[in-house]
Amino acid sequence: EADLYDVYKGVFVPKHLHPPDSLKYYEDFTFRSDDVLIVTYPKSGTTWLQEIVPLIHSEGDLTPVHTIPNWDRVPWLEEHRAKILNLEQRPSPRVFATHFHYGMMNESFFKVKPKVIYVMRNPKDVFTSSFHYYGMASYLVNPGTADEFLEKFLNGKIMFGSWFDHVKGWLKAKDQDHIFYISYEEMIQDLKGSVTKMAQFLEKPLSPEVIEKIAENCLFKNMKQNKMSNYSLVPEEFMNQKKSEFLRKGISGDWKNLFTEAQTEKFNTVYKDKMNNVTFKFFWD
Ligand code: PPS
Repeated sequence: EADLYDVYKGVFVPKHLHPPDSLKYYEDFTFRSDDVLIVTYPKSGTTWLQEIVPLIHSEGDLTPVHTIPNWDRVPWLEEHRAKILNLEQRPSPRVFATHFHYGMMNESFFKVKPKVIYVMRNPKDVFTSSFHYYGMASYLVNPGTADEFLEKFLNGKIMFGSWFDHVKGWLKAKDQDHIFYISYEEMIQDLKGSVTKMAQFLEKPLSPEVIEKIAENCLFKNMKQNKMSNYSLVPEEFMNQKKSEFLRKGISGDWKNLFTEAQTEKFNTVYKDKMNNVTFKFFWD
């Protein structure tokens, strides 16, 4: 672990992507009230939102998603290129992604309260997606067996720490109207409705035709064809998509193809214990 991860504010962060100077850049970062932040625990729908939000801003014009790679279109606040990309100077409205926990947000965030879209996904599917991803991305520690990875996942010994802490932390802010919560599963079930809600939240009401166009472009099968969004521009030694594609299956419930009965039971026990004081009604419960 020590070769690939640093511990930052109590959680593992991949060193290669988030060296100390980029984390420092973030700490001093100044938000604007018209910024939009896409916040996720990894493998919960980041790439999907990096497609949807720019299309809401462009009112369905596909140019940004056909010409700019998703990581430049919606860069991560905490990433190694933050300074080079000069995130501070970007014109408004800026759109960023972050995997940070609520408690890791900086002073400016709590002062400015930019708009946040927090995307959650059934943790069993997050686990499944992560398990395949950790096996193909060279900047992450090899997952080992599903049993070994489950142990790490449940104890938060993976990048960006515990899924449970991430979700519980962001849900603490649920009474604040600058944060909008949506789940991967709702988006699978009703993408047009989800895009409509997000556009309303972003104060960008769009016509049904534009919503239709955005939703069509953001279907899994269509995003998978877009080289600006499917990570095919990333060198194979960094992400080996022959082992597992980044846009892998794009469904809900794939955990059923991976989990044994014993693993399901173990997961459910830990879930119940860690989430017992959470009143939020999750889509997957
Ligand atoms: S990361 O590494 O944190 O940025 O990954 P992230 O983008 O959050 O999650 C990757 C999973 O999201 C799926 N995905 C989609 N599903 C449905 N529709 C669309 N358009 C879509 N885009 C990305 C992607 O396939 C990964 O899930 P799995 O289950 O592995 O397929």
